[in-house]
Amino acid sequence: MASYLTRFAIPASAVPVLAALPAEQKPIAVQVPGSEAYKVQHELKKAEIIPTVINEFLPSFVLDAKWSSDNYADLGNTLKVDAAQDEPSIKIHPISGSSALADDVTYTITITDPDAPSRDDPKWSEICHFIATGVSVSTNISDSSSESVTLSGLKEIMPYKAPGPPPKTGKHRYVFLVFAPANGTSDSLNLTKPADRKHWGTGKEGNGVRDWALDNGLEPVAANFIYAQNEEQ
Ligand SMILES: *[C@@H]1O[C@H](CO)[C@@H](O)[C@H](O)[C@H]1NC(C)=O
Ligand SMILES: *[C@@H]1O[C@H](CO)[C@@H](O)[C@H](O)[C@H]1NC(C)=O
Ligand SMILES: *[C@@H]1O[C@H](CO)[C@@H](O)[C@H](O)[C@H]1NC(C)=O
Repeated sequence: MASYLTRFAIPASAVPVLAALPAEQKPIAVQVPGSEAYKVQHELKKAEIIPTVINEFLPSFVLDAKWSSDNYADLGNTLKVDAAQDEPSIKIHPISGSSALADDVTYTITITDPDAPSRDDPKWSEICHFIATGVSVSTNISDSSSESVTLSGLKEIMPYKAPGPPPKTGKHRYVFLVFAPANGTSDSLNLTKPADRKHWGTGKEGNGVRDWALDNGLEPVAANFIYAQNEEQ
């Protein structure tokens, strides 16, 4: 079976950091500095989501998360807590320069808050806000301008919990990540449900989505984030 990384390979010459990938892989996506994938990575680093929440990675997909036409995630915009009460609609589409489409793979969506109760004192971090999986992907061939991808058949592992930052705790980062199985399996996934939202059930301060994804054989392929804070500061 072709591994996930094989299908999404980037030539070692373009991205030295990925030079460890086997040489026989067929390149289908070339990400050059300045491209959209690097822009997303840059924003994740600027907000210290890389490396606090997730290890460095280059996204293969754009992640759109939208609560309403005016309220959506845009790599670090600030939303009112009231605007994010309902479960957002989440879509992914291949990032420009990438043809990373794998419609036989199950994708997993997560939302995590690494700033609980505050970014200065994250002793409850991370808080798990959402896990959903069992996602199938279909290409929208009628839209040639941008191949959009529809996630369907979402199965919730941890139901959506809306942002609820306590008063006087400043801005919290709410981080959206989409994962794919690291070994490229097209089998249905048997993911674990964290025993608790706090510390993603690990009981260890600072533990969260990175540890859960590693335990479940998942690797990140897309990210987005918003900030939200209590009105009372
Ligand atoms: C596919 O793309 C077209 C054109 O953008 C859009 O009108 C349609 O709603 C899309 N279909 C799905 C299932 O997303
Ligand atoms: C998950 O469990 C099912 C049923 O036991 C099995 O068929 C499938 O291969 C498992 N998936 C993985 C990725 O191990
Ligand atoms: C892929 O990874 C899953 C989860 O770690 C594991 O259960 C499964 O056996 C692996 N499948 C293959 C073909 O390596």
